[in-house]
Amino acid sequence: MIQLEEITKTFNTKAVSLQALHKVSLSIKEGEFVAITGTSGSGKTTLLNILGCLDDQTSGKYFLAGEDVSNYNKAKKATIRNELIGFVLQDFALVEHYTVKQNMMLPVMYMKDKKMRKERQQNMEELLTKLGIVHKIKEKTALLSGGQKQRVAIGRALINEPKLILADEPTGALDQKTSQEIMEILNKLYQEGKTVIVVTHDPFVASYCSRIIQIEDGKIVSDS
Ligand SMILES: Nc1ncnc2c1ncn2[C@@H]1O[C@H](COP(=O)(O)OP(=O)(O)OP(=O)(O)O)[C@@H](O)[C@H]1O
Ligand SMILES: [Mg+2]
Repeated sequence: MIQLEEITKTFNTKAVSLQALHKVSLSIKEGEFVAITGTSGSGKTTLLNILGCLDDQTSGKYFLAGEDVSNYNKAKKATIRNELIGFVLQDFALVEHYTVKQNMMLPVMYMKDKKMRKERQQNMEELLTKLGIVHKIKEKTALLSGGQKQRVAIGRALINEPKLILADEPTGALDQKTSQEIMEILNKLYQEGKTVIVVTHDPFVASYCSRIIQIEDGKIVSDS
């Protein structure tokens, strides 16, 4: 599903040039449940953003679902992202004054295919039922609890039926019990055959995953 070959990422600011990733090589098969851990500033988000086609590497090759996406431009990256990837973020990234339904439909609004849009809309209720928040469908997301917000965000990530779920500290803003519930949802997606990659600094969260990749100073230091 994913193959990285000697991926390097350098951030150039006015004063300094910072190498956030050093020749990272990595292969992840379809259907794996992977944690990426490491201390703050080690390069986890940088790596996830490259995996998610949100950012470009400075050098190295990236193969995603059999395609060499290394030199894709923004538009092509956006297309493959929409087709393949669902994102879940620490701060949920919901539009707070929108209802649950409106947030769920955000990725669908820009779809050209009307029939597909209809299908996705039907998916939505099913997804919300699975996630246990269908009773909140008309509620503004600002009024939901953290755990409920993250369920909406997961639902939104799933609406286009992605094969790959990328989550950056999905439990970072949640208490232990709610974190557990969110990890159980991600685990279920893994059981259903999705590829799930979770960035976390929390060993408890990582313990749910079948593979733990640790990065320090932009390099993989362990993988088991
Ligand atoms: N846009 C940017 N411009 C310049 N430097 C950046 C940029 N994004 C990240 N960095 C730097 O790259 C390094 C890795 O950052 P990254 O966000 O990947 O760390 P992280 O492991 O996700 O940390 P955290 O656990 O705190 O989220 C850090 O030194 C950071 O300051
Ligand atoms: Mg980060």
